[in-house]
Amino acid sequence: MDRGKDSNRDANGGLAEATASRLRFDSDEEAGEVEMEVERPDAEGEEEQAAAEVIGSDKTSADYYFDSYSHFGIHEEMLKDIVRTKTYQNVITQSSFLIKDKIVLDVGAGTGILSLFCAKAGAKHVYAIECSQMADMANEIVKANGYSNVITVIKGKVEEIELPVPKVDVIISEWMGYFLLFENMLNTVLYARDKWLTDDGVVLPDRASLHLTAIEDAEYKEDKIEFWNNVYGFDMSCIKKQAMMEPLVDTVDANQIVTNCRLLKTMDISKMTPGDASFTVPFKLTAQRNDYIHALVAYFDVSFTKCHKLMGFSTGPRSKATHWKQTVLYLEDVITICEGETLTGSMTVAPNKNNPRDIDIKLKYSINGHRCQVSRTQFYKMR
Ligand SMILES: C[S@@+](CC[C@H](N)C(=O)[O-])C[C@H]1O[C@@H](n2cnc3c(N)ncnc32)[C@H](O)[C@@H]1O
Repeated sequence: MDRGKDSNRDANGGLAEATASRLRFDSDEEAGEVEMEVERPDAEGEEEQAAAEVIGSDKTSADYYFDSYSHFGIHEEMLKDIVRTKTYQNVITQSSFLIKDKIVLDVGAGTGILSLFCAKAGAKHVYAIECSQMADMANEIVKANGYSNVITVIKGKVEEIELPVPKVDVIISEWMGYFLLFENMLNTVLYARDKWLTDDGVVLPDRASLHLTAIEDAEYKEDKIEFWNNVYGFDMSCIKKQAMMEPLVDTVDANQIVTNCRLLKTMDISKMTPGDASFTVPFKLTAQRNDYIHALVAYFDVSFTKCHKLMGFSTGPRSKATHWKQTVLYLEDVITICEGETLTGSMTVAPNKNNPRDIDIKLKYSINGHRCQVSRTQFYKMR
């Protein structure tokens, strides 16, 4: 795993990390204000006004906390994820037969990058819907790049806005969250599809699949989970229970993989219903060597099957790293597994009833091996 990272921040979908850096920025600004007040009070007022125009005078750290996509930091991370952004760019530029002269809807446009790719590829018109404050930036970016006549940025929630056209030919979106389904933006894409996509329209991407494997991870489990058993001589194991329940988003080293990787679930975005994002699926993982299993690891692939050649990317531990990393689910038991033995079970995934952006996971696993017999059910919550 990527030991250089504080993985708890990543378990919060990177949001806490972005918030923390913004909070630091806020306090730095305050320190600057005090200094300038003494030396040049008039200049301070002018500069403050200029800064407010750039940053947005109405935004506070609390706004950013609840609306993290308004801050450029999270967009920078996504844009710099080469696997993600280059794949979308390649799909759009190499599939001009899907885009050229078509009406495109960009669901959750962010900075407008996918809309710009589509406009450059010859789209007739692109409607870029974005609910965060980043919509204002997207508008400016569209103007700065000379695409105002092709791209219309609409600020608002997909579920609440009016589209100036009754139907679109293509829906493009980068909606995937950690563990594929965290954030639950998929429902927004399905809503847009059902409301505006023509019968022979295309959704990009149109396939997403969730995969599972098992890893040896003694050192990191000790550091993140067992740590709570004895903290400066005190028993804090009540926190350990919470830590166990939170899947960890982190980079897994391919050398840690003990079993084969199994496909858990494939989703066809062009046909599925929101209910299909809740499921129970069985799995069977076969050990490829004698080892210990400390955790199961989930990751996803997405593909664009309507391209001339199949295109897509994987967020798996054997592929080039992405900002989604992998999702690690620690097991209560350390499983001693022999080569050829199987760990079987099932995984139940559903949006949390109180907060549908969170994901509840139920994991059942059992092994009846030479050196280990275990059967257990564990519950996890991604939040
Ligand atoms: C993962 S980001 C992708 C941004 C951009 N498309 C890109 O590829 O860089 C998803 C974006 O969708 C926006 N979003 C999420 N739910 C939305 C909704 N219901 N309506 C409009 N925008 C939404 C978020 O604010 C965020 O900017």
